[in-house]
Amino acid sequence: MMAKIVPCVDSQAADILAIINDAARAYRGHVPDDCLHEPYMSRATLEKEIAAGVRFWGWVGHGELLGVMGIQNVQDVTLIRHAYVSSRSRRQGLGGKLLAHLMSLASRPVLVGTWRAAIWAIDFYARNGFSLVGDAEKDRLLKKYWTVSARQIETSVVLADARWRGSSAPSSSPCCGD
Ligand SMILES: CC(C)(COP(=O)(O)OP(=O)(O)OC[C@H]1O[C@@H](n2cnc3c(N)ncnc32)[C@H](O)[C@@H]1OP(=O)(O)O)[C@@H](O)C(=O)NCCC(=O)NCCS
Repeated sequence: MMAKIVPCVDSQAADILAIINDAARAYRGHVPDDCLHEPYMSRATLEKEIAAGVRFWGWVGHGELLGVMGIQNVQDVTLIRHAYVSSRSRRQGLGGKLLAHLMSLASRPVLVGTWRAAIWAIDFYARNGFSLVGDAEKDRLLKKYWTVSARQIETSVVLADARWRGSSAPSSSPCCGD
């Protein structure tokens, strides 16, 4: 069967969790231990995220879910949430294709947050058109659009797409008028 990108349905919660909790093992030894727990995402947290409007899309190959990525509209932006590709399917382009699909659905500026220590993820987003925002801006955005602890704000970064950079340019560009 051909690989395809499909919207995940509620009945796939166990499969989504299996992907996330397998892929999140990549954080061990990089992300500070006090930020990690086992499992990385519980069923209750996943259900809370879905109830808060996160829509998961999946990459299915040979009938098996191999990667997931969520999209969530919050206020005036779209967030990319919980991007995970199973460890055995990584670096084969799945993540890039899932991200491109979600970007095609987004009509607002797009932001993504990840652990500062996840340099591979930062690289992944940078290759896909995202840029890191400055530290002060990152703190402001995490408080405004995410529900995260002070510790997670401290240990995270935010990357923004070209649309966000364009839309936020007027307030950050030097004044050239009177
Ligand atoms: C980040 C992630 C979703 C990307 O999915 P993917 O299918 O591996 O991505 P693609 O194959 O489209 O792109 C690969 C690129 O991502 C980056 N990358 C992904 N994994 C990497 C790794 N282990 N080491 C270094 N770079 C990596 C590189 O830029 C890589 O390009 P390269 O292989 O040419 O060097 C996936 O690697 C993953 O699940 N990682 C663990 C969990 C995680 O960090 N999630 C991010 C949460 S915000």
